[in-house]
Amino acid sequence: MSNIATLKLDDKELNLPIFVGSEGEKALDISKLRAETGYITYDDGFGNTGSCTSKITYIDGEAGILRYRGYPIEQLAEKSNFVETAYLVTQGELPTSDQRAKFSRMLTQHAPLREGMVRFIQSFPRDAHPMAVLSASINALGAYYPHLASNNHQRDLEHFDEAAAIAISKVRTIAAHTFRVSNGLSLNYPRPTLGYCENFLHLMFSEPYNEFVPTPEVASALNLFLLLHADHEQNCSTSTVRMVASAGANLFASVSAGVNALWGPLHGGANMAVLEMLQNIHNDGDDGTKFIAAAKSGKGDRLMGFGHRVYRNHDPRAKIIKGSFYKALASLNIKDDPLLDIAMRLEECALNDEYFITRKLYPNVDFYSGLIMRALGIPLNMFTVMFAIGRMPGWIAQWREVAANPKLKIYRPRQIYVGAQQRNFTPINLR
Ligand code: ACO
Repeated sequence: MSNIATLKLDDKELNLPIFVGSEGEKALDISKLRAETGYITYDDGFGNTGSCTSKITYIDGEAGILRYRGYPIEQLAEKSNFVETAYLVTQGELPTSDQRAKFSRMLTQHAPLREGMVRFIQSFPRDAHPMAVLSASINALGAYYPHLASNNHQRDLEHFDEAAAIAISKVRTIAAHTFRVSNGLSLNYPRPTLGYCENFLHLMFSEPYNEFVPTPEVASALNLFLLLHADHEQNCSTSTVRMVASAGANLFASVSAGVNALWGPLHGGANMAVLEMLQNIHNDGDDGTKFIAAAKSGKGDRLMGFGHRVYRNHDPRAKIIKGSFYKALASLNIKDDPLLDIAMRLEECALNDEYFITRKLYPNVDFYSGLIMRALGIPLNMFTVMFAIGRMPGWIAQWREVAANPKLKIYRPRQIYVGAQQRNFTPINLR
């Protein structure tokens, strides 16, 4: 294969180097295009644009492959856990036992919030959306740790391990405190003896009269949910984190921007949309049959939690989380849940119906993760917050990649202006 492509433009020919990634992904290097021809490329929504090189996550959507740092998601799901995977994603390698113990100690040490941060969370209105509180609080961490948020990448990188541990640990405490405040409940304090997921569930659900102890299956389902969401290469929130980081912004400012992007319903809202759909079907007195027929006719809404832009044949995360979901359900002894019955009907239908089979529309990770969140007792408006907790290691790793790039340039896409041409100002009395 040639390593040069030739572009003919007007009366010019330009040689574009072909750039091949470590898994054989091919790209045209157009970095000299504008300087040499005056043209730019037009790629609405960036669907054909590689915005960076990255060593963190590899996805092959056609083949249903997802790997973090080269390790298949199936192996990590089976043999690792969220904390170890967070170390892998942020540091690039699996930890030794000493490194893992040190990382866990740092997460434990940084779990509590400073009193000022607690008051900050308490100062929001009770009905504030938890994603608004989360992004504001994560950004505010920079004010509490100015030595980690100097907005000088060199200096911030010297303290990277501490900043990463703070963000990964505190995101869960902020989330749980926000939930307790909005429900008028007393706050729980993190327990140093508990693992990451057990501690989160304790922070959320323990009461002064009743300590919440999850079944191992529930803790494991949460662990898997977070692990499966740890990174997903250059999606909207991750690209946002990299964009903000490219301006030299510190880790907390950058990942808090990622939280805001994730809040958008087209990005982090799919698992919530699944539950809303099930509730609507139930409220309509339907068992799913009418809804499916309407979706197939193109006149009704789509089945939320089915199909995926990137994974064309199957979503590898859905396969993994499905088993864990059923185990958690059994351990919680949940029966007679009408929404669950509808969900199972939709799942069965999509797996057997010609319409869904030919269009390769199978349940995606959001379908099962929405159901898991519901089974765990996580309220609907916290679903995207749970996604943010899981995605934190990925955002941090992507921030690091940008900050550590010696050839870093601020991200600055171009545009094709299609507005009004030059015209003269009209005085107000003549408009
Ligand atoms: N339910 C019913 N029909 C669907 C669904 C669905 N969920 N998704 C796609 N289709 C149909 C379309 O109507 C279309 O039918 P046609 O060929 O008869 O016109 C065909 O399948 C292909 O649809 P596209 O829009 O081209 O599929 P695309 O791959 O672009 O869309 C998407 C992917 C946006 C995820 C879509 O499947 C969808 O809207 N799913 C529901 C929302 C959801 O669960 N999103 C979570 C995924 S997160 C993510 O992808 C980033």
